Formats: sequence, structure tokens, C-alpha cells
Amino acid sequence: MSEAQKDFEPKIVGFLCNWCAYAGADLAGVSRIQYPPNIRVIRVMCSGRIDPAFILEALKNGADGVLLAGCHLPSDCHYLSGNFKALRRVTLLKRVLKDFGIEPERVRLEWVSASEGDKFAAVVRDMVEQIKKLGPNPLKMEERK
Ligand code: FES
Repeated sequence: MSEAQKDFEPKIVGFLCNWCAYAGADLAGVSRIQYPPNIRVIRVMCSGRIDPAFILEALKNGADGVLLAGCHLPSDCHYLSGNFKALRRVTLLKRVLKDFGIEPERVRLEWVSASEGDKFAAVVRDMVEQIKKLGPNPLKMEERK
């Protein structure tokens, strides 16, 4: 591993649903549960609101990873089926990313309830480690050339 890779701090964009995952992230903060500061949170009303174009835009603009988090399947979504839509879209998007040479592991979908501050922190810790292993977003590397 090169020095540059050792110093690599991934930038992660997190789209969190207002009712579950955002509240879980808030609980992690209030409970002072430690997690890396690599994530920038964008609150959305439901994981079903996360258009795949948002994910592509984040990656295009230099995010090394994108976390989507919403209410637990099957029935916790406050808009009934938003989490199912998110699951379907992410599954398809990952296939497309792979075709374009972007590791699908850079995009992660998790279910985090409002009472799971510890889970939210664990997901962020794990994702940061995973993205560190993958290295910087290949789109950023392309831009540098
Ligand atoms: Fe949370 Fe739909 S309201 S996933």
C-alpha cells in the first residue's frame, strides 16, 4: 500500500431517510457513539425519494462512496413502499456501475431504525474501511489524468 493510499480519507455521501436512518444518525450523535467524520449527510423524506441520478451525481462530483439508509423492510417505511423502491433501484444501479468499471461496493443500502444509533455508527465505520480498501473513486482518478 502506497503512502497516498494510507493517507486516503474517503468522502462518503449519505442519503438518510428522515423518519428512521436520519433519526438513527441523530441518536448516534446524541449518544456520543464514535464514528469517522467521513460522511456528509443529506436528509431525504424517504429512501424511495433517492433517485439513482443523485447517486451518480455524487460519484461524478467526487464521492468515494454513497450510503443510502432507510426504514427497515418490509413494513417500517412511512410511505409504505419507498424502501422496496430503493432496494430495486440500488440493485439495478449496482449492475450498471459494474458495467462502467465502478465497484458496486461503493454504493451501500442499509436499513437503520430511529433506535439504532449504534448500527448507524457501525455501518459508517465499516463502509469507511471498505472504501479505504477500494481506494479513491476511479472517476476522480480519470479527472486527474
Ligand atoms: Fe424511511 Fe420510507 S420513510 S424509507
